[in-house]
Amino acid sequence: MEDRYAFLTEWFDPSSSLLRRYQLFFYPKDGSVEMFDLKNQRRFLKRTECDNIHQEDLFVGNRVNVFTRQLNLIDYGDQYTANKLGSKKERTLALIKPDVITKIGDVIDLIYSSNLIVTKAKMTKLTWTQAADFYVEHQSKPFFNNLVNFMCSDPVVAMELVGDEAISTWRRLLGPADSTAARREAPQSVRAQFGTDVIKNVGHGADSLSAAARELEYFFPSTIGHGPANTATFTDCTCCIIKPHAISEGLTGKILNSISAAGFEISALEMFNVDQANAEEFYEVYKGVVKEYLGMVTELCSGPCMVLEIHGTDAPRTFREFCGPADPVIARHLRPNTLRALYGKDKVRNAVHCTDLPEDGVLEVQYFFKILDGWKQP
Ligand code: CMP
Repeated sequence: MEDRYAFLTEWFDPSSSLLRRYQLFFYPKDGSVEMFDLKNQRRFLKRTECDNIHQEDLFVGNRVNVFTRQLNLIDYGDQYTANKLGSKKERTLALIKPDVITKIGDVIDLIYSSNLIVTKAKMTKLTWTQAADFYVEHQSKPFFNNLVNFMCSDPVVAMELVGDEAISTWRRLLGPADSTAARREAPQSVRAQFGTDVIKNVGHGADSLSAAARELEYFFPSTIGHGPANTATFTDCTCCIIKPHAISEGLTGKILNSISAAGFEISALEMFNVDQANAEEFYEVYKGVVKEYLGMVTELCSGPCMVLEIHGTDAPRTFREFCGPADPVIARHLRPNTLRALYGKDKVRNAVHCTDLPEDGVLEVQYFFKILDGWKQP
């Protein structure tokens, strides 16, 4: 019999402000989906191919986009699906420490090559009290003060990682806590490659399921408006969005590396799941002007995107030049070292959005880091 995975899903219907429940079926053989409306007990979507859903996106807690509807996967629909897709899936917190914030792209690349995916991310600057709270279990240790002082000295990036045995996989990738020991005992590990000592040791990882849940709640709380603030400056800045197709193709780390290598300062970073209404609002200025407008909206809400504030004098103009022509085919001919030439596919899936007009830089950054940040779908 053909493989079929079943999920219980919820969709927030903005027109009626109601949560609607559907069964979602996914057929891995041809990547098709089918939906069943649970309230009205009838088929809602007949089996149709949906090329932006992949088996690795299907786990409880994730959100998938089925023909512009963002569905929250709230439970497995049958034992077969739970056994096949859910048995070893875990989520954990990866905290990137201040010593390697400019190497975040390298670390994310290693995370992807270990078959983990990044589902949430936020750059934040902890206060002394927040860092002390986070490391409260170490408060009696002699290194506590040094550790806390270091953790609040500069921004950190908190990420939620999801994958098979994510907790132990991330800790193994980190290596021994002391970077010097890591170079001896686990030379491929992140700490061996990028760490300095036992305090400046690149990253932190939760050591158990309960610690992972607590630490994720600390940085990505379920309550609206809580959690450490983002680091956006809203001055001398421009907005860059790493588009969903580039995220799902595993290009996030490479794009971040290219941006840092070109000398741009990433002063804020956060992942967002943009819904249709917000994507339309954000791209409003292109409506009726750019013929790809609808495609751009669909792409932006087809999965998580990563938004960056790029900070610096004349940032909108210089960063836009670095992104290159909107069409990657043209970019590859005229400006082969630009982001779109390197990572884009076509005019819609062109790897990154960047602010077009210098006067819109702050406004676009505000749209994400002031308006959408902290806002959660009910
Ligand atoms: P982390 O994974 O963030 O969890 C606790 C941190 O305490 C650890 O990484 C190290 O940075 C730090 N740490 C652990 N042991 C020592 C030690 N013996 N001396 C100094 N710092 C330590």
